[in-house]
Amino acid sequence: MRVIIGSDHGGFHLKQEIRNLLEEMGIAYEDVGCDCPESVDYPDYALPVAERVAKGEFDRGILVCGTGIGMSIAANKVKGIRCAVVSDEFSARMSREHNDANVLALGERVVGPGLAREIVRVWLTTDFAGGRHGRRVAKIGAIEDGDRE
Ligand code: RB5
Repeated sequence: MRVIIGSDHGGFHLKQEIRNLLEEMGIAYEDVGCDCPESVDYPDYALPVAERVAKGEFDRGILVCGTGIGMSIAANKVKGIRCAVVSDEFSARMSREHNDANVLALGERVVGPGLAREIVRVWLTTDFAGGRHGRRVAKIGAIEDGDRE
């Protein structure tokens, strides 16, 4: 699995924790920044992560800002991206099993590092359930394509 990660200043420290976890898990990743905790704009990091997942260069993306909200709003503007803001393990699992989320957004000011690590671990190791959920996810794609019934 190839993972691409990014954060703004509000998520910089948690991104470092996630980098450590990915290394422990033996998962290859690319980090698009930011590279220090100085103030930056979260859409500048959400866009390359979302675009490169949408293009198929990476299997999953992980974005971190203060709340996860701005990152998720920006990432979900990219066609093909299903970004879920998650702050508990149950939602992490459901976002994969039911929604086939391909980008995870976390808030450094919302979840502590221990919980964030468990969320990422669950999110990266849970498969999409398919079946009726596949039909529903396909309908999200139809909305993106302007193909409403
Ligand atoms: C930055 O202060 C903060 O607004 C940002 O990290 C994020 O929480 C936005 O949604």
